[in-house]
Amino acid sequence: MSAKKAFNTKAKLISNQHISGNNWHALLRVPAIAAKAVPGQFIQVRFSEGIEPLLRRPFSIHGARGADISIMYEVVGTGTRIFSEKKAGETLEVVGPLGNGFDISLSRCKGVEVSILVAGGMGVAPLVFLAQKLSTISSKLETVVLVGGRTREQVLCLNEFRKTGCAVKVSTDDGSSGTRGRVTNLLENALRKIDDPECTMVYACGPKSMLKGVDTVVKKFGIPAQLSLESHMACGIGACLGCVVDTTEGYKRVCKEGPVFNAQELTWGERTE
Ligand SMILES: Cc1cc2nc3c(=O)[nH]c(=O)nc-3n(C[C@H](O)[C@H](O)[C@H](O)COP(=O)(O)OP(=O)(O)OC[C@H]3O[C@@H](n4cnc5c(N)ncnc54)[C@H](O)[C@@H]3O)c2cc1C
Ligand code: FES
Repeated sequence: MSAKKAFNTKAKLISNQHISGNNWHALLRVPAIAAKAVPGQFIQVRFSEGIEPLLRRPFSIHGARGADISIMYEVVGTGTRIFSEKKAGETLEVVGPLGNGFDISLSRCKGVEVSILVAGGMGVAPLVFLAQKLSTISSKLETVVLVGGRTREQVLCLNEFRKTGCAVKVSTDDGSSGTRGRVTNLLENALRKIDDPECTMVYACGPKSMLKGVDTVVKKFGIPAQLSLESHMACGIGACLGCVVDTTEGYKRVCKEGPVFNAQELTWGERTE
Protein backbone atom coordinates (compact mmCIF):
# COMPACT_ATOMS: atom_id res chain seq x y z
CA MET A 1 0.00 0.00 0.00
CA SER A 2 1.75 3.19 -1.07
CA ALA A 3 0.88 6.80 -1.76
CA LYS A 4 0.87 7.67 -5.47
CA LYS A 5 0.61 10.82 -7.54
CA ALA A 6 -2.95 12.04 -8.08
CA PHE A 7 -4.23 14.00 -11.08
CA ASN A 8 -6.76 16.84 -11.02
CA THR A 9 -8.27 16.49 -14.45
CA LYS A 10 -11.34 16.37 -16.70
CA ALA A 11 -13.13 13.10 -17.41
CA LYS A 12 -15.50 12.50 -20.30
CA LEU A 13 -18.55 10.50 -19.32
CA ILE A 14 -18.74 7.60 -21.81
CA SER A 15 -21.85 6.01 -20.31
CA ASN A 16 -24.00 6.35 -17.20
CA GLN A 17 -26.43 3.48 -16.81
CA HIS A 18 -29.04 2.48 -14.28
CA ILE A 19 -28.41 -1.09 -13.00
CA SER A 20 -31.10 -1.80 -10.39
CA GLY A 21 -32.82 -0.05 -7.48
CA ASN A 22 -30.77 3.08 -6.74
CA ASN A 23 -27.62 1.62 -8.26
CA TRP A 24 -25.78 3.02 -11.27
CA HIS A 25 -22.69 2.26 -13.33
CA ALA A 26 -20.59 4.96 -15.01
CA LEU A 27 -17.71 4.73 -17.45
CA LEU A 28 -15.31 7.69 -17.49
CA ARG A 29 -12.59 8.40 -20.07
CA VAL A 30 -9.69 9.64 -17.99
CA PRO A 31 -6.42 8.15 -19.30
CA ALA A 32 -4.07 9.53 -16.63
CA ILE A 33 -6.06 7.96 -13.79
CA ALA A 34 -6.83 4.73 -15.68
CA ALA A 35 -3.11 4.15 -16.26
CA LYS A 36 -2.19 4.47 -12.56
CA ALA A 37 -5.17 3.14 -10.62
CA VAL A 38 -4.81 0.09 -8.38
CA PRO A 39 -7.65 -1.78 -6.64
CA GLY A 40 -8.84 -0.07 -3.47
CA GLN A 41 -8.09 3.46 -4.67
CA PHE A 42 -10.79 6.03 -5.30
CA ILE A 43 -11.53 9.24 -7.16
CA GLN A 44 -13.19 12.46 -6.02
CA VAL A 45 -15.82 13.76 -8.45
CA ARG A 46 -17.15 17.31 -8.69
CA PHE A 47 -20.68 17.54 -10.06
CA SER A 48 -21.35 21.22 -10.24
CA GLU A 49 -19.66 24.57 -10.82
CA GLY A 50 -22.03 26.10 -8.26
CA ILE A 51 -22.21 25.65 -4.51
CA GLU A 52 -24.60 22.68 -4.42
CA PRO A 53 -22.98 20.30 -3.84
CA LEU A 54 -19.85 22.22 -2.94
CA LEU A 55 -17.62 19.30 -2.10
CA ARG A 56 -16.35 16.58 -4.36
CA ARG A 57 -17.71 13.12 -3.67
CA PRO A 58 -15.52 10.01 -3.29
CA PHE A 59 -16.11 6.82 -5.32
CA SER A 60 -14.08 3.62 -5.46
CA ILE A 61 -12.51 2.67 -8.74
CA HIS A 62 -14.53 -0.32 -9.90
CA GLY A 63 -12.37 -1.13 -12.92
CA ALA A 64 -9.69 0.32 -15.16
CA ARG A 65 -9.19 -0.68 -18.77
CA GLY A 66 -7.31 1.24 -21.47
CA ALA A 67 -8.17 4.92 -21.07
CA ASP A 68 -11.31 4.31 -19.01
CA ILE A 69 -12.28 3.73 -15.42
CA SER A 70 -15.65 2.51 -14.18
CA ILE A 71 -17.55 3.56 -11.09
CA MET A 72 -20.55 1.96 -9.39
CA TYR A 73 -22.65 4.19 -7.21
CA GLU A 74 -25.82 4.28 -5.18
CA VAL A 75 -28.01 7.38 -5.29
CA VAL A 76 -28.28 8.49 -1.65
CA GLY A 77 -28.30 12.30 -1.73
CA THR A 78 -27.76 15.45 -3.76
CA GLY A 79 -24.39 14.63 -5.33
CA THR A 80 -25.25 11.11 -6.45
CA ARG A 81 -28.65 12.28 -7.73
CA ILE A 82 -26.90 14.88 -9.90
CA PHE A 83 -24.45 12.16 -11.01
CA SER A 84 -27.35 9.95 -12.15
CA GLU A 85 -28.71 12.82 -14.29
CA LYS A 86 -25.44 13.29 -16.20
CA LYS A 87 -25.46 12.18 -19.82
CA ALA A 88 -22.83 10.49 -21.97
CA GLY A 89 -20.57 13.13 -23.53
CA GLU A 90 -20.64 15.46 -20.50
CA THR A 91 -17.41 16.35 -18.72
CA LEU A 92 -16.74 15.90 -15.00
CA GLU A 93 -13.90 17.26 -12.89
CA VAL A 94 -12.14 14.42 -11.08
CA VAL A 95 -9.15 13.97 -8.79
CA GLY A 96 -7.38 10.63 -8.50
CA PRO A 97 -6.29 7.99 -8.11
CA LEU A 98 -6.44 8.68 -4.36
CA GLY A 99 -5.63 6.59 -1.30
CA ASN A 100 -3.42 3.58 -0.81
CA GLY A 101 -5.23 0.57 -2.31
CA PHE A 102 -5.07 -3.08 -1.26
CA ASP A 103 -1.71 -4.79 -0.67
CA ILE A 104 -1.73 -7.96 -2.77
CA SER A 105 1.76 -9.25 -1.98
CA LEU A 106 1.65 -12.26 0.34
CA SER A 107 5.38 -12.86 0.25
CA ARG A 108 5.68 -15.26 3.21
CA CYS A 109 3.43 -17.89 1.63
CA LYS A 110 5.16 -20.98 0.18
CA GLY A 111 2.06 -22.91 -0.86
CA VAL A 112 -1.33 -22.06 -2.33
CA GLU A 113 -2.52 -18.61 -1.33
CA VAL A 114 -6.16 -18.09 -0.44
CA SER A 115 -7.79 -14.68 -0.86
CA ILE A 116 -11.22 -14.18 0.62
CA LEU A 117 -13.08 -11.07 -0.54
CA VAL A 118 -16.03 -9.97 1.61
CA ALA A 119 -18.44 -7.42 0.15
CA GLY A 120 -21.52 -5.81 1.65
CA GLY A 121 -23.91 -3.91 -0.64
CA MET A 122 -22.00 -1.30 -2.67
CA GLY A 123 -18.79 -2.66 -1.11
CA VAL A 124 -18.55 -4.81 -4.24
CA ALA A 125 -17.37 -1.73 -6.17
CA PRO A 126 -13.61 -1.92 -5.41
CA LEU A 127 -13.59 -5.69 -4.87
CA VAL A 128 -14.45 -6.53 -8.50
CA PHE A 129 -11.35 -4.59 -9.55
CA LEU A 130 -9.37 -6.48 -6.88
CA ALA A 131 -10.70 -9.89 -8.03
CA GLN A 132 -9.73 -9.03 -11.61
CA LYS A 133 -6.21 -8.10 -10.49
CA LEU A 134 -5.81 -11.21 -8.32
CA SER A 135 -6.88 -13.44 -11.23
CA THR A 136 -3.89 -12.19 -13.24
CA ILE A 137 -1.08 -12.47 -10.70
CA SER A 138 -0.57 -16.10 -9.66
CA SER A 139 -1.67 -19.61 -10.59
CA LYS A 140 -1.03 -20.54 -6.92
CA LEU A 141 -3.90 -18.34 -5.78
CA GLU A 142 -7.44 -19.36 -4.90
CA THR A 143 -9.97 -16.56 -4.60
CA VAL A 144 -13.31 -16.85 -2.85
CA VAL A 145 -15.81 -13.99 -2.91
CA LEU A 146 -18.53 -13.63 -0.28
CA VAL A 147 -21.23 -11.14 -1.21
CA GLY A 148 -23.87 -9.99 1.25
CA GLY A 149 -26.89 -7.71 1.02
CA ARG A 150 -30.09 -7.02 2.89
CA THR A 151 -32.16 -8.40 -0.02
CA ARG A 152 -31.38 -9.93 -3.43
CA GLU A 153 -31.63 -6.45 -5.05
CA GLN A 154 -28.61 -5.41 -2.96
CA VAL A 155 -26.48 -8.33 -4.09
CA LEU A 156 -24.46 -6.92 -6.95
CA CYS A 157 -21.78 -7.91 -9.49
CA LEU A 158 -22.04 -11.71 -9.14
CA ASN A 159 -21.35 -12.26 -12.85
CA GLU A 160 -18.42 -9.87 -12.83
CA PHE A 161 -16.86 -11.83 -9.97
CA ARG A 162 -17.58 -15.19 -11.63
CA LYS A 163 -15.92 -14.01 -14.85
CA THR A 164 -12.64 -13.72 -12.94
CA GLY A 165 -12.79 -17.46 -12.18
CA CYS A 166 -13.31 -17.19 -8.43
CA ALA A 167 -15.83 -19.07 -6.30
CA VAL A 168 -18.77 -16.85 -5.27
CA LYS A 169 -21.07 -17.32 -2.26
CA VAL A 170 -24.04 -15.12 -1.42
CA SER A 171 -25.98 -14.28 1.72
CA THR A 172 -28.97 -12.03 2.29
CA ASP A 173 -30.54 -10.91 5.55
CA ASP A 174 -34.00 -12.01 4.33
CA GLY A 175 -32.92 -15.21 2.54
CA SER A 176 -34.13 -13.93 -0.87
CA SER A 177 -30.79 -14.96 -2.41
CA GLY A 178 -28.14 -17.40 -1.21
CA THR A 179 -27.89 -18.29 2.48
CA ARG A 180 -30.11 -16.43 4.93
CA GLY A 181 -28.06 -14.38 7.40
CA ARG A 182 -24.97 -12.21 7.59
CA VAL A 183 -22.04 -12.38 5.20
CA THR A 184 -19.83 -12.69 8.29
CA ASN A 185 -21.40 -16.15 8.87
CA LEU A 186 -20.13 -17.15 5.41
CA LEU A 187 -16.74 -15.78 6.37
CA GLU A 188 -16.68 -17.78 9.58
CA ASN A 189 -17.50 -20.98 7.66
CA ALA A 190 -14.77 -20.23 5.11
CA LEU A 191 -12.13 -19.53 7.76
CA ARG A 192 -12.92 -22.79 9.61
CA LYS A 193 -11.53 -24.63 6.55
CA ILE A 194 -8.26 -22.65 6.45
CA ASP A 195 -5.20 -24.56 7.67
CA ASP A 196 -2.47 -22.00 6.93
CA PRO A 197 -3.24 -18.46 8.18
CA GLU A 198 0.08 -17.22 6.71
CA CYS A 199 -1.22 -18.05 3.22
CA THR A 200 -4.59 -16.40 3.72
CA MET A 201 -5.74 -12.80 3.36
CA VAL A 202 -9.22 -11.37 3.85
CA TYR A 203 -10.14 -8.20 1.96
CA ALA A 204 -13.40 -6.47 2.87
CA CYS A 205 -15.46 -3.46 1.88
CA GLY A 206 -18.95 -2.56 3.03
CA PRO A 207 -20.86 -0.81 5.79
CA LYS A 208 -19.02 -0.12 9.06
CA SER A 209 -21.14 -2.65 10.97
CA MET A 210 -20.13 -5.37 8.50
CA LEU A 211 -16.46 -4.39 8.69
CA LYS A 212 -16.56 -4.56 12.48
CA GLY A 213 -18.09 -8.04 12.17
CA VAL A 214 -15.33 -9.08 9.75
CA ASP A 215 -12.76 -7.71 12.20
CA THR A 216 -14.20 -9.83 15.03
CA VAL A 217 -14.23 -13.01 12.92
CA VAL A 218 -10.71 -12.67 11.49
CA LYS A 219 -9.27 -11.98 14.94
CA LYS A 220 -10.99 -15.12 16.28
CA PHE A 221 -9.18 -17.19 13.62
CA GLY A 222 -5.89 -15.25 13.65
CA ILE A 223 -6.17 -14.36 9.95
CA PRO A 224 -4.92 -11.01 8.58
CA ALA A 225 -7.42 -8.70 6.92
CA GLN A 226 -7.44 -5.47 4.96
CA LEU A 227 -10.56 -3.39 5.46
CA SER A 228 -11.59 -0.57 3.14
CA LEU A 229 -13.27 2.14 5.21
CA GLU A 230 -15.69 4.87 4.27
CA SER A 231 -15.67 8.23 5.96
CA HIS A 232 -17.22 11.62 5.28
CA MET A 233 -14.65 13.49 3.23
CA ALA A 234 -14.03 17.13 2.47
CA CYS A 235 -10.71 17.78 0.71
CA GLY A 236 -9.95 14.12 -0.11
CA ILE A 237 -6.22 14.85 -0.36
CA GLY A 238 -5.05 14.76 3.23
CA ALA A 239 -5.27 18.47 4.07
CA CYS A 240 -8.38 19.01 6.23
CA LEU A 241 -8.25 16.06 8.71
CA GLY A 242 -12.00 15.71 8.23
CA CYS A 243 -11.84 11.96 7.61
CA VAL A 244 -9.64 10.62 10.41
CA VAL A 245 -10.10 7.26 12.14
CA ASP A 246 -8.51 6.13 15.37
CA THR A 247 -5.76 3.50 15.04
CA THR A 248 -3.25 1.89 17.37
CA GLU A 249 -0.74 4.49 16.06
CA GLY A 250 -3.06 7.48 16.57
CA TYR A 251 -5.38 9.18 14.13
CA LYS A 252 -4.97 8.39 10.43
CA ARG A 253 -6.63 9.96 7.40
CA VAL A 254 -8.95 7.65 5.47
CA CYS A 255 -8.26 9.61 2.27
CA LYS A 256 -4.47 9.45 2.55
CA GLU A 257 -3.25 6.60 4.79
CA GLY A 258 -6.40 4.66 3.83
CA PRO A 259 -9.03 3.89 2.75
CA VAL A 260 -7.56 0.40 3.24
CA PHE A 261 -6.34 -0.41 6.77
CA ASN A 262 -5.02 -3.57 8.34
CA ALA A 263 -7.61 -4.91 10.76
CA GLN A 264 -4.93 -5.11 13.47
CA GLU A 265 -4.45 -1.33 13.52
CA LEU A 266 -8.10 -0.28 13.80
CA THR A 267 -9.48 0.48 17.27
CA TRP A 268 -13.06 1.35 16.19
CA GLY A 269 -12.84 4.21 18.67
CA GLU A 270 -12.37 1.77 21.56
CA ARG A 271 -8.70 2.23 22.46
CA THR A 272 -7.91 1.18 26.00
CA GLU A 273 -4.50 2.75 26.61
C1 LIG B 1 -13.18 6.06 -0.03
C2 LIG B 1 -14.67 6.04 -0.34
C3 LIG B 1 -15.13 5.29 -1.41
C4 LIG B 1 -16.49 5.28 -1.72
N1 LIG B 1 -16.90 4.51 -2.78
C5 LIG B 1 -18.20 4.51 -3.12
C6 LIG B 1 -18.64 3.75 -4.25
O1 LIG B 1 -17.84 3.10 -4.94
N2 LIG B 1 -19.97 3.79 -4.55
C7 LIG B 1 -20.87 4.50 -3.79
O2 LIG B 1 -22.07 4.49 -4.10
N3 LIG B 1 -20.48 5.21 -2.72
C8 LIG B 1 -19.17 5.25 -2.39
N4 LIG B 1 -18.77 5.99 -1.30
C9 LIG B 1 -19.78 6.76 -0.56
C10 LIG B 1 -20.13 8.02 -1.37
O3 LIG B 1 -18.99 8.86 -1.42
C11 LIG B 1 -21.30 8.75 -0.76
O4 LIG B 1 -22.45 7.95 -0.83
C12 LIG B 1 -21.55 10.05 -1.51
O5 LIG B 1 -20.51 10.96 -1.23
C13 LIG B 1 -22.88 10.63 -1.11
O6 LIG B 1 -22.98 11.89 -1.73
P1 LIG B 1 -24.41 12.59 -1.88
O7 LIG B 1 -24.17 14.04 -2.16
O8 LIG B 1 -25.27 11.83 -2.86
O9 LIG B 1 -25.07 12.38 -0.48
P2 LIG B 1 -25.14 13.40 0.76
O10 LIG B 1 -26.29 14.32 0.49
O11 LIG B 1 -23.81 14.01 0.99
O12 LIG B 1 -25.48 12.40 1.92
C14 LIG B 1 -26.61 11.51 1.83
C15 LIG B 1 -26.50 10.48 2.95
O13 LIG B 1 -25.34 9.64 2.77
C16 LIG B 1 -24.47 9.72 3.91
N5 LIG B 1 -23.08 9.74 3.43
C17 LIG B 1 -22.55 10.63 2.58
N6 LIG B 1 -21.24 10.37 2.39
C18 LIG B 1 -20.93 9.31 3.14
C19 LIG B 1 -19.74 8.57 3.41
N7 LIG B 1 -18.58 8.88 2.85
N8 LIG B 1 -19.82 7.52 4.26
C20 LIG B 1 -20.96 7.20 4.84
N9 LIG B 1 -22.14 7.85 4.65
C21 LIG B 1 -22.12 8.89 3.80
C22 LIG B 1 -24.85 11.04 4.58
O14 LIG B 1 -24.59 10.99 5.98
C23 LIG B 1 -26.33 11.14 4.32
O15 LIG B 1 -27.05 10.37 5.25
C24 LIG B 1 -17.42 6.02 -0.95
C25 LIG B 1 -16.96 6.79 0.12
C26 LIG B 1 -15.60 6.79 0.43
C27 LIG B 1 -15.11 7.60 1.58
S1 FES C 1 -10.85 14.44 3.58
FE1 FES C 1 -9.49 16.05 4.12
S2 FES C 1 -7.91 14.97 5.19
FE2 FES C 1 -9.16 13.38 4.41
